[in-house]
Amino acid sequence: MQEISNEIIISGKSIGFVPTMGFLHEGHLSLVKASKSENDITIVSIFVNPTQFGPNEDLSKYPRDFNRDESLLSENGVDYIFYPNVDEIYPNGFQTYVVQEKISSLLEGAIRPVHFRGVTTIVSILFNIVKPRRAYFGQKDAQQCAVLKRMVTDLCFDLEMHICPIVREPDGLAMSSRNVYLSLQERMDALVLSRSLNTAAGIIKSGERDCAKIKSEAMSILTQVPSASPDYFEIVDFDTFETVTTLNSKKSYFLLTACKIGKTRLIDNQLIHL
Ligand code: PAF
Repeated sequence: MQEISNEIIISGKSIGFVPTMGFLHEGHLSLVKASKSENDITIVSIFVNPTQFGPNEDLSKYPRDFNRDESLLSENGVDYIFYPNVDEIYPNGFQTYVVQEKISSLLEGAIRPVHFRGVTTIVSILFNIVKPRRAYFGQKDAQQCAVLKRMVTDLCFDLEMHICPIVREPDGLAMSSRNVYLSLQERMDALVLSRSLNTAAGIIKSGERDCAKIKSEAMSILTQVPSASPDYFEIVDFDTFETVTTLNSKKSYFLLTACKIGKTRLIDNQLIHL
């Protein structure tokens, strides 16, 4: 992969890169589309990264289907698929990690302690191998985007980060590879995440600025569904990801939620510009 990337760069072409863990959906394909429209060559990686899963998380049962992914990517005009195995990325003796300090410790980071260290490490490795001009990530993982943007700035990675909008099912459920875990009933219950975000956004639109009030309305929606157990509903500053108590005009915020539906943990968010 490094040799291929070197040749592409020497020939004066730009590389757009979409890192994924496979089991692709329309959200991933929207990143591919953005990359293809802005770069000469598009490379997609498929790697279920073990270091970003905690000991009690879903690494072994994470959905995989390389053949399906491969045909989707070739139908969508991807130039190269980088599909390494775990030993190539983490050979015997591997002992170097990249840690983003502050944003990584909040929210998802507080609940999933090793998660962002795994993400920043693998994305650094992939950036060093693929050497993209532009890299594409989905806003669905808003905190991951904030962590990675900070890492790219702080460590002077010479590339542009492009964050693309969330792609939703027609009924509002944010697309995620983990949606496949949901039973029919849970699939319906999972709409509670987008419903809570829409309700909070509606309250804000009608003038509410007190975050405690907004969050408690959103939480009451999440807790109405018996299969749902919310981890959090938070309102954070767009850049720092710090929790805010009052909304100010001319600023941007993320409404964020993480909620278990049955055994499946889902996240969703909405960007608010005031
Ligand atoms: O968002 C994901 O699918 C993963 O966290 C990423 C960025 C591919 C790193 O493994």
